[in-house]
Amino acid sequence: MFNVAIVGATGNVGRKFLEILAERDFPIKNLYLFASKRSAGLKLYFKDKEVIVEETCPENINNKKIDFALFSAGGDVSLEYAPKFASLGATVIDNSSAWRMNKEVPLVVPEVNPEDLKWHKGIIANPNCSTIQAMVPLKVLLDNFGIKRIVYSTYQAVSGAGVAAISDLENGIQGVAPKIFPYPIVGNCIPQIDVFLENGYTKEEIKMIEETKKILHNENLKITATTVRVPVLNSHSESINIELEKNFDLKDVVNYFSKAKGLTVYDDPKELKYPTPLEMAGKDDVYVGRIRRDFSVDSGLNIWVVADNIRKGAALNAVQIAELLIKSN
Ligand code: A2P
Repeated sequence: MFNVAIVGATGNVGRKFLEILAERDFPIKNLYLFASKRSAGLKLYFKDKEVIVEETCPENINNKKIDFALFSAGGDVSLEYAPKFASLGATVIDNSSAWRMNKEVPLVVPEVNPEDLKWHKGIIANPNCSTIQAMVPLKVLLDNFGIKRIVYSTYQAVSGAGVAAISDLENGIQGVAPKIFPYPIVGNCIPQIDVFLENGYTKEEIKMIEETKKILHNENLKITATTVRVPVLNSHSESINIELEKNFDLKDVVNYFSKAKGLTVYDDPKELKYPTPLEMAGKDDVYVGRIRRDFSVDSGLNIWVVADNIRKGAALNAVQIAELLIKSN
């Protein structure tokens, strides 16, 4: 049994951590919930038991023995507190982007690069939600056919931007101006996720590109991305265009996808069957459909990939990492 802490427990992903730990019967001895000072004293529930939220501060951490700390409280909190938790003996699994590209920190999707867990030094990073779901089918393609180039186009749900972003969608329906998004999200698509960089890309786009290379251990992959926020509550959708190294038979691609762990092929155009965000919300797997050849290049493939961004894209992936660590010890 383990002592588990959730940092950012009152947030969207934090609450999902609680739900998933309970659902999967994670072996918990003591559970500690942390958030900002604003939430100190708030009661949350874990398996019908009340747990009081504590302020994230050294005094509340130093007196505890924590085995796993699941973080989702933003980059600044992770930068400051992940090393503190780790120095006290906890293994930190961090959902922010703060540590992802640090060379000392593994970036892990359990179905894709579990071997990277072996070299962690106390902090493990959970990849960006849009990266996680793409990795599951792309690893299958990389292993069986090789990959030359990837073009990502994403259609991302508002829940990925936190509790306040969900309010922008809900209140926007009544005509209230958005607080988080630069434009109304209702009836709209916003081709900006995170801030713009000098090169014209958004930070989210660069995250997808860089994280993909790190997770797939391939610095030379050619990758580009356009990431878009859409008025969907939950689950990210992605159109992924891939140029493979080898010629392929479409039937083999479907066959390899069908056998992959954590991936469900959901694809039958005759029956109008393809993954949609509404249908895949609340599910654990990554869903792939619209599997078809890109006739414009040699060995080109188009796929449509949908997953619940708060489950597989965040909380579930982190919990799976903790489960894998327990199993491999
Ligand atoms: P709080 O609810 O007290 O503000 P989301 O991204 O869904 O909005 O969630 C962000 C999470 O990060 C919340 O649990 C929030 O707690 C927490 N958080 C924000 N700022 C801090 C901070 N300075 N220290 C600890 N937790 C924080």
